[in-house]
Amino acid sequence: MKVLVTGGAGYIGSITGELLLNEGHEVTVFDNLEYGHRDAIDPRARLIEGDLRQPESILGAMREVRPDAVMHFAAYALVGESMEKPERYFRNNLVGGVNLAEAMLACDVGRIVFSSTCATYGQPDTVPIREDTPQRPTNPYGESKLMFEKVLGWYRELHGMRATYLRYFNACGATERLGEDHTPESHLIPIVLQTALGQRAEVGIFGDDYDTPDGTCLRDYIHIVDLARAHLCALTSEATGPFNLGTGSGFSVKEVVETARAVTGRPIPARILPRRPGDPARLIAAADKARDVLKWTPSYTDLRAIVASAWAWHQRHPHGYGR
Ligand code: UFG
Repeated sequence: MKVLVTGGAGYIGSITGELLLNEGHEVTVFDNLEYGHRDAIDPRARLIEGDLRQPESILGAMREVRPDAVMHFAAYALVGESMEKPERYFRNNLVGGVNLAEAMLACDVGRIVFSSTCATYGQPDTVPIREDTPQRPTNPYGESKLMFEKVLGWYRELHGMRATYLRYFNACGATERLGEDHTPESHLIPIVLQTALGQRAEVGIFGDDYDTPDGTCLRDYIHIVDLARAHLCALTSEATGPFNLGTGSGFSVKEVVETARAVTGRPIPARILPRRPGDPARLIAAADKARDVLKWTPSYTDLRAIVASAWAWHQRHPHGYGR
């Protein structure tokens, strides 16, 4: 298939692009390179530099490429920033998404796989979280993703657009070539590994008074190769609509730090800090729908293997991409 990958220079988009190419698909990356990395784009892919916020930019790319399907990763994804600058999130993630969907309609492109998030659920009353768990986002980032899910839901119903929304839990890990490099970095595993490398003095643990076994937050860490594989399953499946992507197991912040100490053999100093506003205590997926319908099974269920893959990449790229 010819696949247009928005945000294909980013963390999850670049790895999915690589996998698509390995499976024989043709990939065009559409990215403004604001946060993405040119070096993360597979040399076999074509890059169109453009911005979803400009309708003519994405329409021009869609007309030129005429893809069979779109994979839509491009978005702002910093929860904390979204609380300070919500307009950035609604403009980029929602308006940009609408521009993309309109360009698809104009060019008769009827298939989209959209990167959504467990942040659309907010603070769930029950875990594990199912696809029909009520979605009540607690920040504009999650809200912007939910709003675009709804736009696609209407386009599914009214235009017959085949839209799949993949709700990622905590993406992490790396491949041989591609890994996690955000500026600024806010995610736990890269921060822990930067501390192991001596680039940070310590890890701040945001709260140890949650209602969890060790008092720190539980998250469902899902390896990006597994996430990328789920996109390929979604692309070739007849099924549409929402799918949670997680392993179904939760690990605490303290367990992540401990695991990283074991994997790296470095001390990794850590200090308890106040809670980070908006953090739910537990985010763990019920991912049986993706297993049953998409025939997707995560291969990385061991936190140690996940952290080891990220550590290997961080050691090879101590300063990230191209620096
Ligand atoms: N954490 C720390 N110290 C840090 C960084 C994180 O204790 O320096 C804790 C957080 O409080 C949280 C856990 O580690 O309990 C994981 O935090 P991340 O920032 O790595 O990821 P989040 O769970 O906040 O992920 C959320 C959503 C995702 C979304 C992502 C956006 O759950 O769906 O933010 O980047 F994609």
